[in-house]
Order: sequence, then C-alpha cells, then structure tokens
Amino acid sequence: MSTILITGGTGALGTHIVDRLDDRGHDVRVLSRREGAGTHVGDLATGVGVDEAALGAELIVHAASDFRAFGRHDPDQTRAVLRAARDARHLLYVSIVGIDRIPFRYYRRKLECEQLVADSGIPHTILRATQFHELIASVLYPARWLPLVPLPLDFRFQTVATGDVATRVADLIEGDPVGRADDFGGPEVRTLAELVEIWRAAHGGPRRAVRLPLPGRIARAFRDGVNTCPEHADGVGTFAEFAARSSGNPYVR
Ligand SMILES: NC(=O)c1ccc[n+]([C@@H]2O[C@H](COP(=O)([O-])OP(=O)(O)OC[C@H]3O[C@@H](n4cnc5c(N)ncnc54)[C@H](OP(=O)(O)O)[C@@H]3O)[C@@H](O)[C@H]2O)c1
Repeated sequence: MSTILITGGTGALGTHIVDRLDDRGHDVRVLSRREGAGTHVGDLATGVGVDEAALGAELIVHAASDFRAFGRHDPDQTRAVLRAARDARHLLYVSIVGIDRIPFRYYRRKLECEQLVADSGIPHTILRATQFHELIASVLYPARWLPLVPLPLDFRFQTVATGDVATRVADLIEGDPVGRADDFGGPEVRTLAELVEIWRAAHGGPRRAVRLPLPGRIARAFRDGVNTCPEHADGVGTFAEFAARSSGNPYVR
C-alpha cells in the first residue's frame, strides 16, 4: 500500500485513476481547487496547498491540465508539482500521443511539461494517450439538435476509454519508473465522419455534418492520423460502447 497524490483526480481521466488506485488498496489523495471535490484543496497556479498535499506521498500522478489559453499555465503548474514532489519515489505524467509532431500550441506546452519532468531528476514515467472518447463527445453532444454542423470530418482519431487509460496509469505507477512508456491508444482508428455516425445512432444528432476544410499543418497532421498509434491499440472500450452509455457532455460538471 502506498500513499499516492493525484493531481487532476477530479477530471475525466483522473476520477477513474482514483477509482483504480482506491480499489487496489492505496491511500489516495486528490488535489482539487474546489472545496470537497478532492481530499486536499490546492491550486497549482498559486502553489497554495500543493506542498501539504504532496508531503509524505511516495507516488504522484500528475494528470491536471488547464486547456484554457492553450495550456499556457501548464508548464508553471508542472513546475509546482515537481517542486512539491522532489522526495517522491515515482512521478507519472499524463501526456498526449503525437505532440512532438503536431505544431498545436497546447501540444507544445505539453511537450515542455514532458521535458520539465524528464529533466527534474525525479524518477518518472511519461504516458502518452490518444484522445479520450469524452473529447469527441464534448463536441458532438452540444451539436446534437443542430440541423447542420461543419466539422473536419476527415480528421482521424483513435479515441480511448478513460477507464482503460486509468488502468494503464495504475499499472505503471505501481511499477518502476520507465521514462517514456509505450503510447496507449484506443481499439480502432476512425475518421470524425465515422464517429459522428456512431454518435448519431446513439443520440439522434447532429442531424447533418458537412466537411469543414481546414488548411495548415495542424489540420494535415490530424488528417494523416499523426495523433494515433495503431501499433498500440491497447484500449478495449470502443467509441460505440461509450456513446451508448454516455448521457451528456462529460466535461460539463
Ligand atoms: N482529453 C483528452 O482527450 C486527452 C487525451 C490524452 C491525454 N490527455 C491528458 O490527460 C490529462 C487529463 O485530462 P482530462 O481531459 O481528464 O482533464 P479534465 O477533465 O479537463 O480535468 C482537468 C483537471 O485538472 C485539474 N486542474 C486544472 N487546473 C488546476 C489547478 N490550477 N490546480 C489544481 N488542479 C487543476 C482540475 O481539477 P479541479 O477543477 O478539481 O481543481 C481537473 O481535475 C491532461 O494532462 C490531458 O492533457 C487528455
């Protein structure tokens, strides 16, 4: 049994990580900015409460991220975690497949965070996962009653169940630090057009989607599936199973 601090433990992925590690009998701490949402109140932006939450934690999972302003504050927030984690036995950072080859601003910040972790001297593991099913749902759910939605239908995704990623995170954090772990992807690569069809079958909308032609290197990378890892299609939960179960936008809490 270990004491484990999870940043982002109230998020789409983090709640599953908390469940997995709880089930395995660990003493799980959850950092959240919101009173009552986790076990420890703290804010990585100000540093308030972070040292207290990390004190005595042998293992740290850093899954917090703030997508606003394309993750502008993520590097500073990762520095705050690393400062508090200096005595940890193992720190795991959750990252995203393909971020070194897609020039998206949020991904550049994630890459910077990976580098901070790698240079920290703290025994660590970096796990890159593909897009979560929830991310696609957060776009399609609000559009379900619209008569027509323009979307980059030719983008490719290998969406993955957050529960499957959480199991991999739990397995990795319980083991020895490995540096960069193998990428982790969902069971199938699909175009956004296919994902829209699946969502429509489960939720009745969006009624019609038209291809939004997006120029540029970022769009080309998503069309080419640079964000996928078909050689690591290790997740088992499909988008169809997720869509059938999901009742709303999982990012609205
Ligand atoms: N979404 C995807 O498709 C995807 C794919 C691959 C990897 N990832 C990575 O997986 C990780 C989790 O993503 P997610 O989608 O599950 O996140 P999410 O649902 O957006 O949750 C974000 C989490 O970060 C915490 N957080 C944000 N700012 C904070 C701050 N200043 N201080 C303390 N906590 C803060 C939030 O906690 P409170 O609000 O409770 O304070 C929340 O638990 C991220 O690193 C993300 O880059 C995401």
